[in-house]
Order: sequence, then structure tokens, then C-alpha cells
Amino acid sequence: MNLEKYKLEGELLSIFTYPDAVLSQVAKPVTDFNKDLKHLVKNMLFSMYHAPGIGLAAPQIGHSIRLFVLDVDFDREEVTTASGKEEYRWSGFNPMVFINPIITGTSGTSIHEEGCLSVPGVYEDVKRHQSVHVKFQDLDGNFHELEASDMLAICIQHENDHLDGIVFIDRLSNLKKNFYKKKMIKEKVR
Ligand code: NI
Repeated sequence: MNLEKYKLEGELLSIFTYPDAVLSQVAKPVTDFNKDLKHLVKNMLFSMYHAPGIGLAAPQIGHSIRLFVLDVDFDREEVTTASGKEEYRWSGFNPMVFINPIITGTSGTSIHEEGCLSVPGVYEDVKRHQSVHVKFQDLDGNFHELEASDMLAICIQHENDHLDGIVFIDRLSNLKKNFYKKKMIKEKVR
């Protein structure tokens, strides 16, 4: 199915932030490939592009199901219109949706700075596999396989972690992890 038309229409979903419980749950497989699922994906892409972020997993918007969207290719640029208004312009869309993904192979290692819409303000280097082989379903339930490397592979691993109740700060050293967890909890209470 063509995801292109979804890029800039939809509604903004609110994003859950750490330590909201949904972010630490193991998500359930998607079983119904129906209209509701397509509607959800459309709004997830819309919310991702507007955040902006390069990936968004269903648990981040409060749905504990095995689904994520991503786009590691788009650009967002701030422009000033003729009337002097600041607005954003998006280009180079390459939206992807992964349903019931399973990483079936990995190779190499790569260390790259990551951030997460559910852990605002935190950016840290995370060690991941340099490439992954992933099996997944699309919005119609059809099965696919993909060999991904570099940025796409990192993003797939980060989003796939969300489906297992793992946020990227869980992948840091105990010292850093505890520091950020305390900080996030404190900010949340305030
Ligand atoms: Ni994330």
C-alpha cells in the first residue's frame, strides 16, 4: 500500500514519556489488518513528521501492539513565507511501516547518538548492530523481509526495542541509565 499520501494529513497523537507504564510493557502482536490499523498508522506518521522524529512505535502513543513507523530520509526545513510567517516544509519522504517485526539476523557493531520522543532532552551514544535482517508484515498483512544497515538498521533496532518495553536509556551503562531515569522521574513529578 502506498504510504506517500499519509505524510502530511492526520491528527497529532500525544506521545507518552518515560516512565509511563506502557513504555515498559511487552507489546502484543497485531492480528487485525483492518481500517482502524490503517487509521492509526496514518496518524502515527503524521505525528512522527511533526514532532519531528525519524521513528515512532505504537507503545509511544499508548497502544501496546507490535507496530512501528519510520522515515530516515525526510528533510524538514524552516521557511519564511512572503507574509513573514515561519513555517516548516518537508521533502524527500520515505515512510515505512513495520508490523509484527522480527529481527532474524544481525552483523557488525555501530555506535551512534540516539534520542527518543519518549525520553525528551536526552541524547547518548548507543551500541547497536551495524546491520540487521528483519521480517515483518505490511498494513495488508503481507510478509516482507529486509536487509538494513547504518541509520535504517539503528532506527529499526531502537523502534523494535520499544515493542519489547525497552527504551534506549536501558542500553546505557548502569551509571548513565540510573542518572537519566532519576532525572526523568523527577521532571515528570514536577
Ligand atoms: Ni524511541
